[in-house]
Amino acid sequence: MHTRIVSVPDEKSIADAAKLLENGGLVAFPTETVYGLGGNGLDAASAAKIYSAKGRPSDNPLILHLSSAEEAEKYAYTCPTYYKLAMAFMPGPLTVILKKKPIVPLCTTGGLETVAVRVPAHSVARALLAHCDFPVAAPSANISGRPSPTRLEHVIEDMAGKVDMILGGGECEIGVESTIVSIDGEHLTLLRPGAITPEMLAPFCASVCLDPSLERPLTKGETPLAPGMKYKHYAPRADVILLQGSEEEVLSFMKAEYQKQGVGILCSEKQKQSLGGENVMSYGAELCDEARTLFACLREFDHREDVRIIYAPQPRRDGIGLAVYNRLAKAAGFTVKNVKEQ
Ligand code: TXA
Ligand code: MG
Repeated sequence: MHTRIVSVPDEKSIADAAKLLENGGLVAFPTETVYGLGGNGLDAASAAKIYSAKGRPSDNPLILHLSSAEEAEKYAYTCPTYYKLAMAFMPGPLTVILKKKPIVPLCTTGGLETVAVRVPAHSVARALLAHCDFPVAAPSANISGRPSPTRLEHVIEDMAGKVDMILGGGECEIGVESTIVSIDGEHLTLLRPGAITPEMLAPFCASVCLDPSLERPLTKGETPLAPGMKYKHYAPRADVILLQGSEEEVLSFMKAEYQKQGVGILCSEKQKQSLGGENVMSYGAELCDEARTLFACLREFDHREDVRIIYAPQPRRDGIGLAVYNRLAKAAGFTVKNVKEQ
């Protein structure tokens, strides 16, 4: 399939993209979190095409992208808590699970009676949605199991030849996928951590509890509340191992290891400065830098065929750190090495 790539979309190319979606085509587009792989969310055949382009199991439901919070009325049963969240965080990196209306095909929701809705903030996504009189179903635009794409080149790497069109929009500002919550009256459950943190959600509800599978591996027979969270995700080719210990212990472990054959290190800018070395990669100074560059770093390690093991200090879990920890822990299959024992 020929894929039209437009790095800097204008009004005309965005209108073309909306037309392609309307006619059952697939268009990858930027959002403030990660790039999405869009199709018409009311068309079962488009959902099937999305699953096939990603190589994704079809029981993994898709998020409906909308141009406004109110548009959710057409596709789902809303509630007062939904509107409190919408007022505070939409447009933005928040996805809410609601009971679906019959108009949404079960193919889009992976067979569930609920549907995920989100109003993205990125200007290209908003312009595209403004041209569509249907919701745009969009998972992250990566091949299933690979790190989500945060730059146009990542989308081209994974999706060229598999979709009709790719729209560019620079590097995604946030870099980890949206926060997902489900609502029960005034109570929220966090299904996937993201830039909208539990601390930020707290003022708009009675309580926020975390799906326990976010911080530890699933036990046999257990299923996470977001079906997609059960798959091995965000996986680079090398094995990822998280390092636990004091700052000094972790640094001295990395000092002993970083020059060894096959070893890569993913750490803070400060730690990198005191190590140096070809396969030592920094993902920034602040938690938000770590979130923004995490997936690009994991993809970069994939290009270094000599790296077979990646050590990364275990990230902090406050603020957006919980999202970084969750993605990295999943890339590591929750493998943690306690360096105190050395
Ligand atoms: O930031 C994002 O959310 C990006 C951009 C493109 O918007 N999209 C994204 O989609 O991350 P995806 O398909 O890669 O992840 C969607 C997650 C999956 O874990 C899926 O299981 C969960 O949302 N999900 C979708 N609908 C659901 C539902 N009805 N109930 C529970 N979880 C749901
Ligand atoms: Mg994804």
